[in-house]
Amino acid sequence: MVESVFQRACGGVVSAVESAFREAFGAAPEVVGRAPGRVNLIGEHTDYNDGFVLPAAIDRYIVFAGRRRPGREVRALSVDFEDQVEFSLDDIQRDSKHPWSNYLRGVSRFLEGDGHRLSGAQVVFGGDVPREAGLSSSAAVEVASAVFWKKLLNLELDPIYVVKLSRRAENQFVGVPCGIMDQFISALGHRDHALFLDCGDLTYRHVPLRDDVKIVVCNSGVKRALAQSEYEVRLNQCRQAVAQMAAEGLAVNSLRDVQPHDLEAAKGGLSELLLRRARHVVTENQRVLEGVKALEAGDVERFGELMNASHESLRDDYEVSSRELDVLVEFARKQPGVLGARMTGAGFGGCTVNLVWADAAVAFAEALRKSYLEALGLKAEIYICQASDGALTTG
Ligand code: GLA
Repeated sequence: MVESVFQRACGGVVSAVESAFREAFGAAPEVVGRAPGRVNLIGEHTDYNDGFVLPAAIDRYIVFAGRRRPGREVRALSVDFEDQVEFSLDDIQRDSKHPWSNYLRGVSRFLEGDGHRLSGAQVVFGGDVPREAGLSSSAAVEVASAVFWKKLLNLELDPIYVVKLSRRAENQFVGVPCGIMDQFISALGHRDHALFLDCGDLTYRHVPLRDDVKIVVCNSGVKRALAQSEYEVRLNQCRQAVAQMAAEGLAVNSLRDVQPHDLEAAKGGLSELLLRRARHVVTENQRVLEGVKALEAGDVERFGELMNASHESLRDDYEVSSRELDVLVEFARKQPGVLGARMTGAGFGGCTVNLVWADAAVAFAEALRKSYLEALGLKAEIYICQASDGALTTG
């Protein structure tokens, strides 16, 4: 059963990684694991403020294939980077020459640190989640590494542990201060559903997506150059806003605790910049709550309006959009059949996400590609996505 779901979901990538494994190590892998990338439908820059998010896992995957070998050495090959490394489980260090290997190293190191004894292994991995596009290829590598080890060594790892471990690898080993959304959806996505997550207490539920609408992701082709430094700046601005509101006597630990009417009251104590940053997060949380209700009621038109409002807020209040993303959103909204369009992920490049009536999706994709090329001379890659299951393994 799992086998067929697995093959249907990502057969091409699995075969490619399996044959790369056979070629490199002369035998079939014992275990294959995979984890998907994600697109966030609404709830941007809210996860690290203990707020709400609504991502979906997409049908693009990172696949790990491997087998045990005696001893404590791990030999890992990346199909996508056409490169390989070897490291000892007794001394796992960051590798600045082969940064692609740090996700696997980080996950392995923290598993060992938590008392899970790993074994030497031969590993090959690769996939079709576009890199540096804001579709969480890093989270997919982390989660795929974790479920791969789990299956290979029969480790008892519950999904929430896998999520937290993967985030820890990203924050503390790779050194990127992300929130929890990407790892969560990569581990816990459901086919044909989005996932409504409360990042404060990690409660969640899956929200069905109508089959007459499609999620269309448009990759601007612009790498997210400023993303990491500006991400940290935003994170600190949110912390500062909370500290200042708390100093003014508001009972808040994070922007999650701030209600729209509190912002009015806090106006005097916050700079204009911090007020705008806080306003994005506070209103975005409201949009997620309303968006979930709309989707659950089948009201995709309302959901689309909320996506549009989210983009405006990210562009004007949070200032994480870019010219290319704004152009894509503007063109998308002129196409027939579109319900909503916004930037998705951290911003400063990467992708937009569009909700489009299914019967208009192909024409929408074509028209968007064409107008973007004509206007900016840039090639957009467009993916009509299927909301997918989270991490799976076979073997
Ligand atoms: C990146 C981070 C996530 C989240 C988004 C913005 O994808 O990895 O944790 O903060 O940006 O919503």
